[in-house]
Amino acid sequence: MEFYKNLKASEWASLLPFGIACAAVGFGVKTLIDKKIGCPVNLSVRKGESKVVDSVDIEDLGNKAVFCRCWRSSKFPYCDGSHTAHNNCCGDNVGPLIIKKKE
Ligand code: FES
Repeated sequence: MEFYKNLKASEWASLLPFGIACAAVGFGVKTLIDKKIGCPVNLSVRKGESKVVDSVDIEDLGNKAVFCRCWRSSKFPYCDGSHTAHNNCCGDNVGPLIIKKKE
């Protein structure tokens, strides 16, 4: 069963296109699966909880509150500006939700 031990360099070289084709198909399938089911949005926020839910009383918001929508903030659910690095890294375009009183 260990046929590969007796292969010559030229025989390994002839297998290279097949190996590359298999890797390309695998990568393509993985990409399709990731797009179909999506990757996790939440990478680090309270991962021990089954669902991350936050509640803020309207009276406590003050004149303005800025909430994170990228899930990268160290102050989640509030925005700490981490979306900028995330957008630069991933080509994404997410930004915070800003809630403020009318002027
Ligand atoms: Fe997430 Fe700003 S840090 S939206």
